[in-house]
Amino acid sequence: MLRAHDAILGTRLWQWPDESACAASAQRLARGLGRLAEPRSLTIELHGTLGAGKTTFVRHLLRALGIAGRVKSPTYTVLEPYASAGLAISHFDFYRLADAREAEDAGFREVFERPGLKLVEWPERVPGLWAGTDLALHIEVEDIAGDAHPAHEPAGEPARAVHVEAFSANGQAVLD
Ligand SMILES: Nc1ncnc2c1ncn2[C@@H]1O[C@H](COP(=O)(O)OP(=O)(O)OP(=O)(O)O)[C@@H](O)[C@H]1O
Ligand SMILES: [Mg+2]
Repeated sequence: MLRAHDAILGTRLWQWPDESACAASAQRLARGLGRLAEPRSLTIELHGTLGAGKTTFVRHLLRALGIAGRVKSPTYTVLEPYASAGLAISHFDFYRLADAREAEDAGFREVFERPGLKLVEWPERVPGLWAGTDLALHIEVEDIAGDAHPAHEPAGEPARAVHVEAFSANGQAVLD
């Protein structure tokens, strides 16, 4: 989990007017992962309210990494593991956990100590479970009820704005 003193080395602002833009960001990130030295290791925090698009982004990322088949939300299982061309991928959703202790008892700390890609929804539930977040995505859902919404845009799914922060050289490398 990210601590307040972690230095931000780089930022990006991604605009997702629709889900295909989310998919495009995921595809760029998947290409970025190819730039990391072996054994590849990267921890990405996914922040955003319920339904913001955290799992949706992970689904597009896993597709882009060649994972075929259904990508289940880890809402109930907490961890869904995958493997892609020698890369171990761990998709977490800590929403249902009470605290980091519960996650530790389940053995999740060890997953963060091994190489691989860790994608973490609701990291704020388990502060201190791991050290060294590489990237944080803050997904914000546009307020369609607000006056700022242009009248000519059709009603429907609101756009997303994503504030991306890199906290490590690896985090920066996958963004460039
Ligand atoms: N621009 C967009 N980017 C991402 N998802 C979008 C976008 N527009 C609409 N959606 C839809 O929003 C929903 C996001 O749901 P998702 O399960 O990904 O949310 P979540 O952040 O993982 O929520 P939870 O905290 O419950 O796990 C999906 O149905 C997706 O199709
Ligand atoms: Mg989710």
